[in-house]
Amino acid sequence: MIETRNLVKRFGPFTAVAGVSFKVERGEVLGFLGPNGAGKSTTMKMITGFLTPTEGTAIVCGHDVTSDALAVKEKVGYLPEGAPAYPDMTPAGFLRFIAEVRGIPAEKRKARIDEVAAMVHLEGVMHQSIETLSKGYKRRVGLAQAVLHDPDVLIMDEPTDGLDPNQKHEVRALIQSMAARKAIILSTHILEEVDAVCTRAIVINRGSIVADGTPDQLRSRSRYYNAVAITIAAVSQPGAVRDEIARLPGVDEVEDAGSASGRASFTVIPKRGRTVVEEVSRHARAKGWAVDELRVEGGRLDEVFRTITAGGGGGAR
Ligand SMILES: Nc1ncnc2c1ncn2[C@@H]1O[C@H](COP(=O)(O)OP(=O)(O)OP(=O)(O)O)[C@@H](O)[C@H]1O
Ligand SMILES: [Mg+2]
Repeated sequence: MIETRNLVKRFGPFTAVAGVSFKVERGEVLGFLGPNGAGKSTTMKMITGFLTPTEGTAIVCGHDVTSDALAVKEKVGYLPEGAPAYPDMTPAGFLRFIAEVRGIPAEKRKARIDEVAAMVHLEGVMHQSIETLSKGYKRRVGLAQAVLHDPDVLIMDEPTDGLDPNQKHEVRALIQSMAARKAIILSTHILEEVDAVCTRAIVINRGSIVADGTPDQLRSRSRYYNAVAITIAAVSQPGAVRDEIARLPGVDEVEDAGSASGRASFTVIPKRGRTVVEEVSRHARAKGWAVDELRVEGGRLDEVFRTITAGGGGGAR
C-alpha cells in the first residue's frame, strides 16, 4: 500500500531526511518515533505529496508521488502537524467543503459528516468558528477531515497531541477499529501509544531509520529485557546480597531499586540474550531469603529510544 524508496529531503545544505526506505501493508499501523527534528513530519509530507523529495520517491496504492501526486492525495487521508484548517469556517462548513473537494456524492455528504463528527465528538461545536475552538477540538476537526472519505491510506502526524486522556483513548480505539482495512502511519512521542495501537514502529534519528520492528522486538533491545525485579525482606546488608546476586553466571549487573526498613529491591540485568529468573530464584531459595516479589521485566521502550537516538534530534548534520 505504501512504499518509500530512498526518500531524501534537503533544505539547502541541510539534509532533513537522508534516504528512508520501507513498506507498509494493509492492516499495519506503523508508528514513527524519533526526537524533535528527526525528520518524521518531513517524511510524511513527502509520502502525502505535500513536499517534493530531493531524491527517491514514494509509491502509494500503485501511484508514484513524484509523477502523480494528485492520485496519491485522492487515496490518502492526512492529518498534518498542528492540523491546519480555515480559522473563520465552522467545523460543519469546513467538513462540507472537504466532502465536496473529496468528491463525496452530494446526497451522502450530510450522513457521512454526521457520522465522522460523532466519531470524534465534534457534535457540540459544529457551528462555532474553528479559530475559537480549543486546541484539542481543532485537532478533532483535523482528524475528522482526514478520515472523511474513508481513505485506504491514513497518515497522521501526532494524532493524539493536545487531546485530553479520554479523547486520546477514543482516538486510539478509532485507529484500531480502522486498522484492518487500511495502511496507517502515525507519528508520536508517546511511547505507550506504540504499544496501544502500533503493529510496528520505525525509529528515525537525524533523517535515517535506526530501528524497525514490532514493539516487542524493539523492547527486546532494552537492557531491561528479561531483567528480574526482586524484593527481599529482612535484609541486614543489602550491599552483600547485591554483590552475591551479581556473581551469578548469567547476571550482567545488579541495580539498586531502593531499600527501606529491612526490605531490599534490586533489578537484576541478564547478560545479552540470557534469562536469569530461574538462576535468581534458585539462589534465593537455597539461601532462604524471604522473597516478597519476583517478576520478569518486558524491557523498557523509553530506554531503547534513548539508547538508539542518543545525540540525535535536529541540528547540523
Ligand atoms: N522548510 C524547511 N526549511 C528548512 N528546514 C526545514 C524545513 N522543514 C523542516 N526543516 C528541518 O528539517 C528537520 C526535520 O524536521 P521535521 O519537522 O521533519 O522533524 P520531526 O521529526 O517531525 O520533529 P518533531 O518531533 O519536532 O515534530 C528539522 O531540523 C527542521 O528544522
Ligand atoms: Mg513533526
